Amino acid sequence: MHQVYAVATKTYPAPIATPLHDLRPASETCQRCHWPQKFYARNLQTNRYFLTDSLNSEWNVVLQMKIGPEVRDLGFTEGIHWHINPNVNIEYISENDKREVITYVKYTNKATGEVTVYRNPENEISDSTISASSARTMDCIDCHNRPSHKYTSPSVYFDKIMLTNEIDSEIPFIKKTSMEILRNSFPTKDTAYMQIREGITDFYKTNFKDLFEKYQAKIDQSISSLQKAYSQNAFPGMKVTYDAYPDHIGHLETPGCFRCHNDSFASENGRKITKDCNLCHTIVGQGRRNQMQFTNIRDTLEFQHPVDIGTAWKEANCSECHLALY
Ligand code: HEC
Ligand code: HEC
Ligand code: HEC
Ligand code: HEC
Ligand code: HEC
Repeated sequence: MHQVYAVATKTYPAPIATPLHDLRPASETCQRCHWPQKFYARNLQTNRYFLTDSLNSEWNVVLQMKIGPEVRDLGFTEGIHWHINPNVNIEYISENDKREVITYVKYTNKATGEVTVYRNPENEISDSTISASSARTMDCIDCHNRPSHKYTSPSVYFDKIMLTNEIDSEIPFIKKTSMEILRNSFPTKDTAYMQIREGITDFYKTNFKDLFEKYQAKIDQSISSLQKAYSQNAFPGMKVTYDAYPDHIGHLETPGCFRCHNDSFASENGRKITKDCNLCHTIVGQGRRNQMQFTNIRDTLEFQHPVDIGTAWKEANCSECHLALY
């Protein structure tokens, strides 16, 4: 009845705020289907991207995700799903209800009773704030907060349709041009459709008349595919775009794991919540298409950032640039 009333009188917020607080605990929902005995140990994940250079160059990164230990019988003793080991209890306090900025982390080993408290000197909170706050106990939803209803960024949905050839990667500058248009926010879907069409057409007509003639049909096809992808990922009426619902599973476009794993959180005896690139995955392949470097599955490559940014990828959080890029 509450929801019927809200719909009838249009008193619901846009976007609908997350997180929801009256959800049933994840252990009662997710684990009914994803029972712990069935979790994978390792998983290969191939990520394919297109850069915004003239050739829309393809860049690939193959990660071996350390979801669990190498030997599955070891259960949740190490790896990413160590977090759901029944003996591991992690509680945290966040700056506000959004759970995006974490200020305090407490890990209790339920088997030994040992407690470790991690504080972040770059984002200090007082003891009185801690005792006045209610901590949240971490569960599936703190990482898998968007197991479905994912809204992805323009860069991600663009790459997806370029991979399926709905946009032909032979059209020079098509990613760059598209990103420049999709970076804007649009008041309605119709405005977006119009600006995607006009923006792309004008770019080629003005700058590359010969390309426009050569690729006219393919450019047209790209525009329709892009409009469709936009419409599946952005809902201006509800003010829903990917940044309204940050996904916490990784760390590229949102802080995600780096909310805690940032090398700043440390305990009194110097234990850190590490950002070590090999903690959660190893890199078994990376590079431009057809020029990739690979290594043995038991080894790892040092991360190579696709464009030269010096050592910024080690110092800054990826999302500091990537959230702002598009
Ligand atoms: C009613 C059963 C059911 C429930 C409840 C459920 N899932 Fe799933 N989930 C599935 C099925 C079926 C798949 C698809 C499996 C496949 O494609 O291999 C899936 C897929 C997934 C995947 C992707 C797996 C992969 O291999 O990439 C994740 C992550 C996931 N679910 C997380 C969750 C989380 C978190 C919850 C609780 C909020 C949840 N699920 C609740 C049935 C369920
Ligand atoms: C609320 C804080 C928090 C968040 C968010 C978080 N972690 Fe952790 N994680 C911890 C703490 C605390 C430890 C234990 C650190 C230590 O060794 O003292 C840890 C340890 C780990 C370990 C090492 C487990 C082992 O011993 O083998 C892995 C792997 C890991 N986390 C993966 C992830 C991934 C992947 C994400 C994001 C999807 C994530 N974590 C998000 C707090 C967090
Ligand atoms: C610390 C963050 C974190 C927590 C907590 C967490 N997961 Fe995961 N989970 C991950 C990551 C990261 C992956 C690997 C994703 C990938 O390969 O893209 C993963 C993989 C999965 C998969 C697919 C692979 C597999 O093993 O089948 C499922 C299903 C899944 N998780 C369900 C759950 C459920 C259910 C819970 C709660 C009981 C949970 N996860 C808790 C981070 C987490
Ligand atoms: C605390 C765990 C953790 C640490 C530490 C970590 N990563 Fe990741 N990383 C992940 C997870 C989880 C994903 C997969 C996200 C997904 O499945 O969408 C990921 C994805 C990536 C990707 C693919 C990007 C994407 O989402 O498209 C790259 C590249 C990457 N990591 C590089 C690094 C580098 C470089 C470092 C060290 C500075 C690092 N990672 C440290 C957990 C971690
Ligand atoms: C100083 C800013 C900056 C930082 C920090 C940064 N990146 Fe990037 N990244 C860029 C730029 C600029 C591009 C090129 C975008 C293009 O050509 O489309 C890029 C491109 C990428 C791409 C290719 C796909 C894409 O989105 O274009 C990946 C993958 C990537 N970065 C991963 C990472 C990871 C992982 C980290 C953190 C460990 C990171 N980056 C940190 C600026 C940054």
